[in-house]
Amino acid sequence: MNKKIKKIIKKKNKSKIICLTAYSKNFASILDKYCDLVLVGDSLGSVLYNYDSTKKVSLETMINHSKSVRLGVKKSLMVVDMPYNTYRSPKEAIKNVKLVMKKTKCDAVKLEGGKKIIPIVKNLIKHKIPVMGHLGILPQTEKKFTYKGKNLNERTNILNDAKLLQKAGIFSVVLECVESNLSKKISNQLKIPTIGIGASVNCDGQVLVTDDLIGLNENKFRFVKKYLNTKKIIEKAVKKFKSDVLKKKFPNEKHSFKN
Ligand code: KIV
Repeated sequence: MNKKIKKIIKKKNKSKIICLTAYSKNFASILDKYCDLVLVGDSLGSVLYNYDSTKKVSLETMINHSKSVRLGVKKSLMVVDMPYNTYRSPKEAIKNVKLVMKKTKCDAVKLEGGKKIIPIVKNLIKHKIPVMGHLGILPQTEKKFTYKGKNLNERTNILNDAKLLQKAGIFSVVLECVESNLSKKISNQLKIPTIGIGASVNCDGQVLVTDDLIGLNENKFRFVKKYLNTKKIIEKAVKKFKSDVLKKKFPNEKHSFKN
């Protein structure tokens, strides 16, 4: 097993696992210093391209952003989201995942779903490809974007899916918008770490979309904590640049060439 994956699994019940998303090199190189896992999430569809659904994200887009992220990630585990309709059968999945692994040199891939994708996950793991699961809200196929675990049926299905995925060999699972007591139960019953987003402190680790965390992306999700207002900081610099150019303060001699 990949050393970085072993290290992440070992953290369960000892220390929280830190994960964030990155879509490009400069962000990735900052996150790499502090994260155990850097995820190239297909959330880039809404964050960067204004898509109304992650369904529209292509494999090519994921590969291109992942290549850039790879340049910045040295120590963390780099995981790439497999986009919608790229893993509908074991055959399709293995072909596309192998392409992603070859082109991006990522360490692992993440797939959304439970019981339905078990044969696909098993086949990837048989081919020695590390897989991360994703349960709760499944943005690629979701009809109702509301937290999961409201009724017994939903709770039972999510817990069973988590157990099935673990048995299939995944190394970790993202729980997206899963009710607190259910995420506690899943985290307690699984040997592998759970990574929560909107799934409470009961998870073994936490992930957020970095653009949300730093206030670059406008959204008001309950589960997001905005740690910085980057938009304001960038605006300040751009305003100053404009003013300097208009007043002919920039460029000065220091920034110019003279024989
Ligand atoms: O696409 C993504 O960024 C994700 C995280 C929110 C877990 O799947």
